[in-house]
Amino acid sequence: MNKKGFIFDLDGVIVDTAKYHYLAWKKLANSIGLDFSEEQNEQLKGVSRVHSLEKILEWGNRNLSEKEFLDLMNKKNEDYLSYISTMDESEILTNVPQVLSFLIENKQPIALGSASKNARAILEGVNLLDTFNAIVDGNDVSKTKPNPEVFLNAANVLQVKPEKCIVFEDAVAGIQAANNANMISIGIGEKEVLKDADYVFKDFTEISSEFLSSLINEERNVLK
Ligand code: BG6
Ligand code: MG
Repeated sequence: MNKKGFIFDLDGVIVDTAKYHYLAWKKLANSIGLDFSEEQNEQLKGVSRVHSLEKILEWGNRNLSEKEFLDLMNKKNEDYLSYISTMDESEILTNVPQVLSFLIENKQPIALGSASKNARAILEGVNLLDTFNAIVDGNDVSKTKPNPEVFLNAANVLQVKPEKCIVFEDAVAGIQAANNANMISIGIGEKEVLKDADYVFKDFTEISSEFLSSLINEERNVLK
């Protein structure tokens, strides 16, 4: 049996947490007199917490002291944590459990590769903490997507060469990170947005077991 490494982003791939990030960032922006739109929230997908606040302040033309910046970041995370504290298995996106089960049944190593420092808390809430062979999250990396560090770390823990890894991602920066890691990139979302991905699917209901089998069995030059 061929062995590949399957790496999943968390936010927007396994669960739809973008709505909770939106609520928490909006509350924060409004508290300092700034607007925050859903379009702006889109641009923060895959972007770390620090860079997200930097962007919000840049959009609003605001400068803060280091202390104010840290206080706001902590406040945002407190709010976000209260939103995600009620998450359970019902928030796992459709067909994700079936895809994970198929890969596990076929003895494929699976990892989580997320920019979030809250990844473990979310996985615990939705009861997936023990599903992954490796978890690499925002606490383990110093460079954020599109830097490939998070995915290269995950491949390393799985002991699978990067060129044998496949990444599922919903963010432009995440697809770039997968490509920069020399991995096969699978976009979850809109083709027009995730232009650089090797494959794009609207969601996991479009991913068949035949396609997963081909990812497992075909050589890289056939897939890429
Ligand atoms: C990414 C999200 O997965 O994680 C971003 O797409 C988020 O929106 C980033 O900012 C960091 O998350 P957290 O949970 O550490 O604030
Ligand atoms: Mg994501």
